[in-house]
Amino acid sequence: MSIQKWILIAVWAIFGGTVVFSLKSCIDSTEAQATTDHSTSAAARFVNNKFPDFGQMISPKDFSEQYPGEEVFKLKQDYPLDMPPDSEIPPFFDIPFDEGDQWMDYAKAVRDYCFEGMIEVDFDANKNEKRQWYHMPWMHWGDQATEGFNGLAKEAQISPLQLTPEQTDAHQVYALGFYNSFAGYTLAQMWQDPINPNPAATQAPEGGFPVGTVIFKLLFTDADESQVDYLTNPFVWNGYVTRTWSDSVRVVKPMQLIQMDFMVRDPRADQYGTGWVFGTYCYNGKLNEGKTGAARAENLVPVGIQWGNDPQDTTNFINPYPPLRTIINPNLQQTRINPDSTQLPPQHLGWGGRLDGPVDLNTASCMSCHATAEFPQIGALVPAEAFIGIKNKNGVMVKLTETDAPEWKKYYTNLRCGTPYDSEATSCDFSLQVSLALEYFYQWKSQDEAGQWYHDFLQADRPIHRGASEHLKALNMK
Ligand code: HEC
Repeated sequence: MSIQKWILIAVWAIFGGTVVFSLKSCIDSTEAQATTDHSTSAAARFVNNKFPDFGQMISPKDFSEQYPGEEVFKLKQDYPLDMPPDSEIPPFFDIPFDEGDQWMDYAKAVRDYCFEGMIEVDFDANKNEKRQWYHMPWMHWGDQATEGFNGLAKEAQISPLQLTPEQTDAHQVYALGFYNSFAGYTLAQMWQDPINPNPAATQAPEGGFPVGTVIFKLLFTDADESQVDYLTNPFVWNGYVTRTWSDSVRVVKPMQLIQMDFMVRDPRADQYGTGWVFGTYCYNGKLNEGKTGAARAENLVPVGIQWGNDPQDTTNFINPYPPLRTIINPNLQQTRINPDSTQLPPQHLGWGGRLDGPVDLNTASCMSCHATAEFPQIGALVPAEAFIGIKNKNGVMVKLTETDAPEWKKYYTNLRCGTPYDSEATSCDFSLQVSLALEYFYQWKSQDEAGQWYHDFLQADRPIHRGASEHLKALNMK
């Protein structure tokens, strides 16, 4: 490795502007030396410690004084260089998710698979003795950087009334993603050389997440039971988060688990033109029955699954905020929704009743948004048409009016895994964290080297509409 590369890594380990720290490197001077030592042993040490663990945190002194006995978040980044054996294919790959009600068994089995070995260690991937799970590198970078208590990245805003009629304030969402060994193998292919990532690792036919890939994500909010009744008996993690979405000052807040998402690279979804199965769960603390700590994750109730966008269904319908009941579109063939209102709190779902979670926008859907994942991210995560329509007297969108626009139709077609959304870009194979990680890496690299890349100019001058910000603007609220 050239000296120049080592210097780059050293600079990287002590990013200016964001507080990156590892207690280990503060205490252990030999470890700290590894950043400047060019010897082979130092190189060996780097192999498993290439990427910063998080981007934003209180000082080490405050942490040890105020949170004695607690540990900071550690990125699980020993991505496997070998493809896992077939024996590691998850057991639920024999449940036919597209037959009758069996999707529910599939969703429950995915949940069990994700929870195995996790509940007892409070979802610390480094301590799971049953199964290897990894985290995405580079989420520590930028304004939405991960925080150091639990590695939660700043994700999206929740509009007033999005969750319940009592939810009169805006809130925010922070999240952490977990990648199983099949997904970890692809991350190794992409990030093996930490300063020369290979974006083609997620593009077909050579690249793309292999069959067997399972990715899940825990989503936390600063809303609590006072505005969202089903967040009673919460699963709480501390987060070093911004006071409000639009604020940049960070404070330590209790964050409540509200949603869990998954995506599975399942070969039985190939026939539908996608290759992926998405699914989500909503927290319902009313079902708690005495559970404590991380066992409360079992209060996550399946909302539904989705393996395609149902391009043939043009029902122009949204369930406006606040959702009072879950409205199921019986014509959808590639979305399944849980009809049991005794378990599942009312859901707004996505456009035409396609799958979407409580904190997601009701004019989008899981798969339409994730199909845009590419590098550079030319496609908007939500097209502008999702914000043009008829609003009620409270300023809440009740119907979209531009759903014949080509961009909108494209957004609801089915895209095959590993295919870029725009032909000029490289596919991130439905992973929006991959897209962000690459984007953050190149931002850092261009700042560090003070240069420019031609692909910076490929980015269309188009804002990424994500979450609720457009709704809030319309409502004239912050
Ligand atoms: C409007 C866009 C949008 C919608 C709708 C959306 N997501 Fe995402 N999702 C993102 C973004 C952006 C990320 C990456 C940043 C993050 O994790 O917060 C992400 C991350 C994820 C991840 C982590 C894996 C990865 O690398 O992308 C999973 C799993 C996931 N979403 C599943 C879902 C599911 C299931 C739904 C529907 C219930 C859904 N998403 C709806 C934008 C969206």
